[in-house]
Amino acid sequence: MSELSVNHLLGIKYLNESDIQLIFETADHFKEVINRSIKKVPSLRDITIANIFFENSTRTKLSFELAEKRLSADVLNFSASQSSVKKGETLIDTVNNILSMKVDMVVMRHPNPGAGIFLAKHVKASIINAGDGAHEHPTQALLDSFSIREKLGDVAGKNVVIVGDILHSRVALSNIFALKLQGANVKVCGPKTLIPKYVESLGVGVEMDLRKALEWCDVANMLRIQNERLDISYFPTTREYTQQFGVNKRLLDSLDKEIVIMHPGPINRGVEITSDVADSKQSIILNQVENGVAVRMAVIYLLASKIKQ
Ligand code: CP
Repeated sequence: MSELSVNHLLGIKYLNESDIQLIFETADHFKEVINRSIKKVPSLRDITIANIFFENSTRTKLSFELAEKRLSADVLNFSASQSSVKKGETLIDTVNNILSMKVDMVVMRHPNPGAGIFLAKHVKASIINAGDGAHEHPTQALLDSFSIREKLGDVAGKNVVIVGDILHSRVALSNIFALKLQGANVKVCGPKTLIPKYVESLGVGVEMDLRKALEWCDVANMLRIQNERLDISYFPTTREYTQQFGVNKRLLDSLDKEIVIMHPGPINRGVEITSDVADSKQSIILNQVENGVAVRMAVIYLLASKIKQ
């Protein structure tokens, strides 16, 4: 198979295992390209991509923009806070106006779950979901699995624990779908109030004790508390959260093996992870960010190949 089974990247839920392997093989090639002295390829000179962000972002926004530029695409950047959305323009009107300028692909981050799915049904462009509320963040999960594969050789058979605010995390849901599809064993760990009831139906184990979770895993993916999505208090205090679910060097050093530490960012240092762990040799946090460019180049390139047909 040399093409994706989908025309949009709306969520990992819509991909199959072959799609993921194709994205990774393509990303392997682009990772080699971006480490050359000339980091650019002319592949998408005839493609125009709009990045439309209705929510704040550092890594995803910059990474998509760089990936597009490395592929020689023309790039438009749209920030909702400085746009006519503030004057009441709807999402569909906004995007149709952008598309009338001959844009081929839209990368969108939006606070509402399903915003990308909605857009894909109503506009004529390839849509990439760059995070939709607490629903999915597919390119984050792809770069996370790509980074595990790079570090440990394979994702299949690895034990991965996702720690923290699972309930409000699009990173958690996309990672669960991606890891299960590739044959990893997945557990979640966090306060009971932040573990969704349906999680076990996805084939995921629940471990409330962080030490036991870390003893079990090969990889721990630490998530921040999504304060912007918390309408009520889900745990008594941040200090108590850190005592029960924060990873520190002392805890890691007391395990009888060396595990891999991941974090999608942004980090709240001293809450879910201490600096001596985030900056340690066990951490692959900045490798994840580096891999994000190659993985996003692969996703854009493969979806653009379908537009050109
Ligand atoms: N991991 C991630 O999505 O980070 P940003 O919110 O900074 O894009």
